[in-house]
Amino acid sequence: MDDRELIKMACKAREYSYSPYSGYQVGAALLSTEGKVYTGCNIENAAYSPTNCAERTAFFKAVSEGVRQFSKIAVVGSPKGEVVQFAFPCGVCRQVMMEFCRPGEFQVIVAKNTEEYKIFYLKELLYEGFGPGNLSDS
Ligand code: THU
Repeated sequence: MDDRELIKMACKAREYSYSPYSGYQVGAALLSTEGKVYTGCNIENAAYSPTNCAERTAFFKAVSEGVRQFSKIAVVGSPKGEVVQFAFPCGVCRQVMMEFCRPGEFQVIVAKNTEEYKIFYLKELLYEGFGPGNLSDS
């Protein structure tokens, strides 16, 4: 899957953003190592704290279908309308990525559109992150 295709899918997912409180619309497209894409949008709530970010929506959809290995995620976020900024994953979403992804291999594509995007490894966004490996002896 080409990075630009993944960004397009994140843009499409952003159209489904349910964000009546913040007006901030986010879409994500998560690529599994087997080549399947799981999309997600942010889903807000009147009680605020149940809000789920686009990235976690995508991860939880995949994991709930038995998929736990991923290679990259594209994220597109901005206030309603045209995407005018790069939206970096929040700390909670970075930690969820840490649970399922190898920080030195998993790529986070932060995009405005298919022409303007930046690519990071998870380890750059969550330096010395705490993950499942920390709970074992190895
Ligand atoms: N949001 C995401 O979907 N992903 C992030 O990584 C950052 C924030 C959402 C949550 C909320 O609905 C809105 O953006 C404003 O914080």
